[in-house]
Amino acid sequence: PAPLRVALLGCGVVGTEVARGILANPIDLEARVGTRVELTGIAVRSLDTERVTDDGFVIPHDLLTTDAEALVDGADVVVEVMGGIEPARTLIVRALGAGAAVVTANKALLAERGPELFEAADAAGVDLLYEAAVAGAIPIVRPIRESLAGDHVRRVLGIVNGTTNYVLDKMATEGLDLDQAVKEAQALGYAEADPTADVDGFDAAAKAAILASLAFHTRVALKDVAREGIRGVSAADVAWARRTGHVIKLLAVAEVIGPVDDGEISVRVHPALVPDSHPLAAVRGAFNAVFVEADGAGPLMFYGQGAGGRPTASAVLGDVVSVARRRLTGGKGLRESKDQAFPVLPSQAAVTRY
Ligand code: NDP
Ligand code: HSE
Repeated sequence: PAPLRVALLGCGVVGTEVARGILANPIDLEARVGTRVELTGIAVRSLDTERVTDDGFVIPHDLLTTDAEALVDGADVVVEVMGGIEPARTLIVRALGAGAAVVTANKALLAERGPELFEAADAAGVDLLYEAAVAGAIPIVRPIRESLAGDHVRRVLGIVNGTTNYVLDKMATEGLDLDQAVKEAQALGYAEADPTADVDGFDAAAKAAILASLAFHTRVALKDVAREGIRGVSAADVAWARRTGHVIKLLAVAEVIGPVDDGEISVRVHPALVPDSHPLAAVRGAFNAVFVEADGAGPLMFYGQGAGGRPTASAVLGDVVSVARRRLTGGKGLRESKDQAFPVLPSQAAVTRY
């Protein structure tokens, strides 16, 4: 088959790691996808900045361009990791209209303009995937949208913003003030371009809107989410919580109030006192955790790295493999991987190392 042409929009914290995942091929992407994956270019604002991953992989300068529109036009798959509403929205609509599949990590855009984008994808008959938009590396979008599609979800609750969890953790354990801790989160690549989105709960609210839309098969937008961030959490609050056996966590909650077929949903983001004994209290640094409660499945728990370039790129690349496989099978279903990275041991009993 012809190579899969991937256009990347953005080469920041997440984009550099996505580029590395394709160019350095740390997994055999070709075997997983079924054809060669060609990164055709990377749209950025500045051509003067050197793009290097944390572990030193240099992105070739000749892949960078400031002409995002031209890049989109020649692609089979467009990966949008530039963030913000515009020009990301226009570029995604353009890509979908031209028949390209789109993978995005942009929760702010999905929570504000999701319906328009999904309609464009439906009209074009192409995929718009966004696993990385909620909780970084944690597979949560696909499990709720697909694995739980035959169940009644009652509640989704958890920590979905890595920056604020990191900040609250640092305030509690090292006595940092909010501004110092936010600076550290920025340096580690966890924060949004404008960290107000994290601190004031907009990012968590966007994720809550996406999760609620999926879980309850409805449209929830950012404006529908009741939101309070962590700006008002003081050092005294954090200390009091510690003394009384609690930690303060920024929670996102989406739940059905009343009977599942005839009720209403409440979607909200706010700081909460969590007892030390609760599993959410053990979620440290930029990790996230999401609990889902469904009638049939019962309680489910998802946990992992909620922010950062490499973890987020893992989710983005998973979506790229997914759309590519579907393209190759003409939309008939998933192609099984032909990847044979690990031979099977002749005697399983010989495995003692762990
Ligand atoms: P960065 O700010 O690090 O990177 C953004 C990139 O997009 C930069 O390379 C920038 O170019 C480019 N860009 C921005 N605007 C334009 C434009 N108008 N034209 C061309 N290029 C543009 O952001 P992140 O990588 O951290 O985040 C990207 C997206 O992923 C956001 O939607 C974010 O919410 C989401 N996300 C981020 C996570 C994280 O942990 N960082 C986790 C999950 C999702 P230049 O470098 O030249 O300025
Ligand atoms: N700023 C976001 C966070 C990135 O801290 O969770 C991951 O979506």
